[in-house]
Amino acid sequence: MTVVGPLGLSVRDQALEADVQAGLAAVEEGLFEATKSSVPFITEAAQHLVRAGGKRFRPLLALLAARFGDPHAPGIVPSAVVVELTHLATLYHDDVMDEAEVRRGVPSANVNWGNSVAVLTGDFLFARASHILADLGPEAVRIQAEAFERLVTGQILETAGPRERTDPIDHYLEVVAGKTGSLIAVSGRFGSLMAGADERTVDVLTQYGERIGTAFQLADDVLDIASDSHESGKTPGTDLREGVPTLPVLHLRAMAEQGGAPEDRALCALLDGDLTDDARHAEALAGLRAHPALEQARRDTVRFADQAREVLGPLPDCAAKQALAELCDTVVHRAG
Ligand code: IPE
Ligand code: IPE
Ligand code: MG
Ligand code: MG
Repeated sequence: MTVVGPLGLSVRDQALEADVQAGLAAVEEGLFEATKSSVPFITEAAQHLVRAGGKRFRPLLALLAARFGDPHAPGIVPSAVVVELTHLATLYHDDVMDEAEVRRGVPSANVNWGNSVAVLTGDFLFARASHILADLGPEAVRIQAEAFERLVTGQILETAGPRERTDPIDHYLEVVAGKTGSLIAVSGRFGSLMAGADERTVDVLTQYGERIGTAFQLADDVLDIASDSHESGKTPGTDLREGVPTLPVLHLRAMAEQGGAPEDRALCALLDGDLTDDARHAEALAGLRAHPALEQARRDTVRFADQAREVLGPLPDCAAKQALAELCDTVVHRAG
């Protein structure tokens, strides 16, 4: 069993491992190529987070999905570069929205150069992704446009909050499917589509991406509370500080409303208060870390990862299918 890519996916098949490693290396080259500008400062800003690393989850998924067709078809690597560039652009924008100071273990672009440069660098990355997409044809452009609309809608719905009489947990799951599931679904779709897989297979890998993408975001939300910054490369408790009510907080609120213990209500009151105060923030974080609501969110992560694994059912048994199933475990294990 060998570990592949920065995410540490275990792959049992040597040929698959070698091919995926080679694919990931080609994606790296494509990312550096796509982020070069004739203006040195733009190159510096655009390559800042490329150099900082990241898990390359979306390209990995595209490469694995491509195993269900011709895995060496020419569109696969460019499509993997497109999804990572799009993701990268959203990170530049998201860090402005969240006022995040650390990303991928380095200062965020907004800290280094201010919000305007961070937003414009994100736009530059979108432009470069569109350029590559144009060569992949109109269907790829349409798929990306639809996913991007869902992603942005998810980010906006998160900011807007649930409408009256909407269950906050249902609202949040819709947000997550939009802001994260959409692009991860495209990763599975592009990989298989570019490899020439049949329609049913492409559909399975799209559905798989959507579900594992949701699990991936729920795991990230758990990590925001449970991990230290060394592990995540981000500042823990950013969601709390920014008042983003992720699943652990929503479960806590639901428990408190359904006649939870007085400590639950006290923790909710703490969360409703000013969490820009360091001491209050630390207390809220410690309270949530010890609360069963965090376990509940972990169970939700497992549920979506299990759904993703089940979706793979109709695919032929092969090393790539095994690796995709393994990927569900990897995502869940991240959340502890
Ligand atoms: C961060 O994505 C934003 C989420 C959707 C959770 P990743 O966790 O894939 O970030 P990198 O690419 O590894 O930095
Ligand atoms: C961001 O979600 C999702 C997108 C970038 C579209 P988060 O706000 O949870 O991502 P992190 O935690 O900052 O990586
Ligand atoms: Mg964020
Ligand atoms: Mg997060």
